[in-house]
Amino acid sequence: MFFVFVFISAALSHPTLRASLDALQCHFTWELDNNRSNVLHLRDKLEDIGTEERNPWLGHIYNLQAHVHFQLASQEDGLGSTVGDALRCFGTAAEAFRQIRNTVSDEGPWLLVNYGNLAWLHYHMGEQAKSLAYVGKVEALLQEYPSPIQEQLHQEFTSNDSPKPVE
Ligand SMILES: *[C@@H]1O[C@H](CO)[C@@H](O)[C@H](O)[C@H]1NC(C)=O
Repeated sequence: MFFVFVFISAALSHPTLRASLDALQCHFTWELDNNRSNVLHLRDKLEDIGTEERNPWLGHIYNLQAHVHFQLASQEDGLGSTVGDALRCFGTAAEAFRQIRNTVSDEGPWLLVNYGNLAWLHYHMGEQAKSLAYVGKVEALLQEYPSPIQEQLHQEFTSNDSPKPVE
């Protein structure tokens, strides 16, 4: 999961919440397919995937499932998904990441994407304070777990005139 460190730090100091959110690496900023029939199909597929404990992908699966619920809930007719489903699945994802690591409450870089997603979800729910709190959690994690890759890329970016190097 080290790729999540990449490209995040620079924009976190932007003044507005929206700019901070746009800088996060998570399902809301990755350009995922939002074709309605494909997303519906994906929801069914994800529901079929076995969710046995110790499946190392469990956290990722729930993160994706949560985002799929959000995408569908954002459609006019909701298509059987609600924002509450999304929130619940993001919570289950965090739980799964912790279980895989045998930690009860420890936070770590494995939660970066999850926190990014929650920052976005609360933003869409109009809960700016909660959204900001998750942005803050991401910032704290990035400070606690700085990545060498991040530094290298930073150097690469600062030698480049483009203000927003990678999308
Ligand atoms: C969605 O994807 C399906 C096939 O995957 C395609 O037939 C359909 O045209 C797409 N719809 C849109 C709106 O792009």
